[in-house]
Amino acid sequence: MSETFTALMLEDVDGKPKAGFREISMSDLPDRDVLVEVAYSSLNYKDGLAVSGKGRIARRLPMVAGIDIAGTVVESRSPAWKPGDRVVANGWGMSETEWGGYARFQRLKPEWLMRLPDAFTMQEAMAIGTAGYTAALCVDALENWGAIQPGKGEVLVTGAAGGVGSTAVSLLSSKGYTVVASTGRAETHDYLRGLGATSFIDRAELSGEVKPLQKERWSGAVDSVGSTTLANVLAQTAYGGAVAACGLAGGANLPGTVMPHILRSVGLIGVDSVFAPMAKREKAWRTLADHLDREKLAAMTEVHKMRDLPALADSILKGAVRGRVVIEIA
Ligand SMILES: NC(=O)c1ccc[n+]([C@@H]2O[C@H](COP(=O)([O-])OP(=O)(O)OC[C@H]3O[C@@H](n4cnc5c(N)ncnc54)[C@H](OP(=O)(O)O)[C@@H]3O)[C@@H](O)[C@H]2O)c1
Repeated sequence: MSETFTALMLEDVDGKPKAGFREISMSDLPDRDVLVEVAYSSLNYKDGLAVSGKGRIARRLPMVAGIDIAGTVVESRSPAWKPGDRVVANGWGMSETEWGGYARFQRLKPEWLMRLPDAFTMQEAMAIGTAGYTAALCVDALENWGAIQPGKGEVLVTGAAGGVGSTAVSLLSSKGYTVVASTGRAETHDYLRGLGATSFIDRAELSGEVKPLQKERWSGAVDSVGSTTLANVLAQTAYGGAVAACGLAGGANLPGTVMPHILRSVGLIGVDSVFAPMAKREKAWRTLADHLDREKLAAMTEVHKMRDLPALADSILKGAVRGRVVIEIA
């Protein structure tokens, strides 16, 4: 195929990565075993950092940005995949060291691909995307820890109106948990109630001074904010509970003490989506297929074109994006 197609490329301009739309062809793509026609990608916080140039995400340039892919296999040199297979890929260094999803075609390693669960269309898979699959990794982690059980105690979700947060609220609620949503945007309360949140806590209440041990409130929490918020949430977690920490929207530091851990057996579970082993990914996507309400997923999703990405990147970093953004590629 000699046709060209549009990609959102990060290129070196005066030593810094700068995003721009470029026409590329098949011969520009990396030499990987599986060629995928990308139908949809999505916008995550990390994509915002990469596309805006405000975070050092790409570690080699030029780079096709986009950490998510849902599409169809076109050619495969691997026996694991054949033309026509519907696949999804999240992370694996895409947009960092590996070319990613903001291009109509991409070549990928066979072991990065997962069969798209029958439950989802490609658009729904990207409405979930890395943010939603990370929310499922967090819920799975809290359950495996033994911290949370439906009907027993409140589960807190911070950064609730964002992508990880919205999916976590919806998934936990569908599984029968009592979900408390922490948000800095009071105007999202109706939206979050629609996803299943039963009550709210203002973001500011969690981001202030950290006292080592506070009133025990949460049996578990999904935290995408970090910093003083995570430290306060740990200090408010009940005996034997746990917090699944996956993000740093409020900062990368953790200004807390060991007290919740050594006096209340509170667990801090780190959750990474990029290099999560395939078994954990498949389990998380099964959790989503079995429990995520499709109507709620639609309610938390907007669909945009590739050309909107530069403006969307700035919005997500300002905390102004609600829920999830799907990017139509094909
Ligand atoms: N570990 C992993 O593999 C992994 C995977 C996916 C995402 N993440 C991380 O998780 C975080 C969320 O990602 P996302 O895609 O869901 O982003 P997002 O859609 O922008 O959501 C982040 C939310 O955090 C809240 N927030 C923003 N700035 C804040 C601040 N200064 N202080 C307190 N809260 C703030 C906002 O929620 P409210 O408006 O409701 O307050 C915002 O909607 C990011 O840090 C991202 O890098 C990590």
